[in-house]
This record gives sequence, structure tokens and C-alpha cells, in this order.
Amino acid sequence: MSATLSTESRAAAFERIRTLYDAWSPEFVAAAGTTFQSGLVKASADAPEDPDASTRLCAAAAGVRDGDALLDAGCGVGGPAVALLEAFPHSTLAGVTLSPVQARMAEALAAERGVSARASFAVADYHELPFPDAAFDVAFFFECTGYSPDPAALYREAVRVLKPGGRVYVKDVFRNAARLDADDERRMAAFDDLWACVRSGSLAEAEAHAKAAGLRVATRIYPHVGTHRFVGAMLGPDGRLNAFGRGFANSFAPIVFAELCGVKSPEVSTP
Ligand SMILES: C[S@@+](CC[C@H](N)C(=O)[O-])C[C@H]1O[C@@H](n2cnc3c(N)ncnc32)[C@H](O)[C@@H]1O
Repeated sequence: MSATLSTESRAAAFERIRTLYDAWSPEFVAAAGTTFQSGLVKASADAPEDPDASTRLCAAAAGVRDGDALLDAGCGVGGPAVALLEAFPHSTLAGVTLSPVQARMAEALAAERGVSARASFAVADYHELPFPDAAFDVAFFFECTGYSPDPAALYREAVRVLKPGGRVYVKDVFRNAARLDADDERRMAAFDDLWACVRSGSLAEAEAHAKAAGLRVATRIYPHVGTHRFVGAMLGPDGRLNAFGRGFANSFAPIVFAELCGVKSPEVSTP
């Protein structure tokens, strides 16, 4: 199923996303820190949940080398971006988000952590990136592809800005296509509505879009993902829902956490 929307619906969807993140980002940071991801990737079942370690595991899976030019598409307030710049001290990174509040917070975070000389953050749409062709070695999408009204265009645009041999790395929440009865569909719709997503697609759909954009694709459901940090951030010291929890606690949705890694082969011409 495609999530392609009319121009008006697309503008309305972007406005919802912008409004949500402009309004809630300071609250999210206070409750959950600067990485806005519901699941954190872990090296083993008993490893602690650590946002920066999760980002580093994703970077290793994406084959990042120190000195690479990195794109963080849908960068939030910059938590993963800063973790990448700290892990790769010769790399540069450009982040884009729809939220002006987040772009300013990401700039402040990069300055606080001493990496701002290698970072830039802009308010921009990841379907129409303000960067030239072949500008990046790796393009990351951390928990943000479900916001796309046109996932096929998302992957085409990522391919355009990648150098030949460059990689797209998606770490995301996907609908669990293995089990989707009517109740599941309702729960997924409620999940998407709560987070202002257009539609969280399945991993198979993402793979099809990435392949259509010319990428050589490998996917994997993460063997170890922790969600306790995120769920715990919704509770106050008294065990009751705090402001973040009252806004975003939701019933179980049939999701899986998975990665998609796509390589732009040297022969691929920009679509
Ligand atoms: C759940 S947050 C994830 C933030 C960040 N990747 C992280 O891991 O902390 C989703 C992000 O996607 C961004 N986003 C959604 N649609 C976008 C679009 N079309 N272009 C750029 N950013 C977008 C939002 O502005 C928000 O920053």
C-alpha cells in the first residue's frame, strides 16, 4: 500500500509533524533525553540500553568510516548526530528536520558537546534535500521513515545525494506484516496518529521502495532491542504517567524494530 498523498494532504501532514515536534521536543528531552527513538539497539540481550551505543551499533552496521560525510535525515534534536560525530572525529554531518525548534536544539547540543564545527542542522524536507548530488557517504534515517507521504521519493532522494558506493541506513519501527488483522490495523492507525506519522510501512515495503530507487538492499530484524528507557520516561517518580506519558502512552501496536541497509552501486545513475 502506498502512502502517497495529494499536495494539500502532504502539506497538512508536514504541518502536523512540525507542530508536534516544535511543541513537544523540550518535554521529550526532559523525559527521555536527546535521542527520540522508542527502541534502542543492543549488542546482546543483557546489554544496557544506551542511546549512543545504539547509534554506534547502527553506524557499524552501515559501515561508517572515520572521515565519511554523513547525513542524518529526520535528525530530531541531534542526539544521534552528536553521537556519530563523537564516534567519528574526522567526519562531518548534516542533519535535517521539519521542526525549527529541533534544528535550534540540535545546534545547541552540538555546541555543548564541542562538535559544532563539523555539524550543520537545517529545516528541510528529506524528500527534497538542500544538498548537491553525491554529497554523502552514508545517509541515516533513525525512526523517521513512517512520516513520509511518499517513501519511494524518500529513497530516490537519498540515492541522489549519496556518492557511488554510499549507503542508506534505516533503523525504524515497521508494521509487523506477519500479523495484521482488523484489530492490528486499528492499533497501527492509532500508533501512527499519536505520533503524527503518515503511515508506518512494513519492512518488505521499505525494501521494495529502496530496490526501486536502485539500491542493493539487505534487511534484518534486530535480535536485541530495548524499550524500557522509552517506556520508563513516561512515568514519574510516583509511578504515574508524567506529562510525556499522558501525551504519548499508547496501547500495544504490532511493530518490529528493524534495519534496512542499501548500497548505491557505482553503476547507479541518479534517478
Ligand atoms: C521520532 S523523531 C526521530 C528523531 C531522530 N532521528 C532521533 O533518532 O532522535 C522523527 C523525526 O523525523 C523528522 N521528520 C519527519 N518527516 C520529515 C521530513 N519529511 N523531512 C525531514 N525530517 C522529517 C521529524 O521532524 C523528527 O525530527
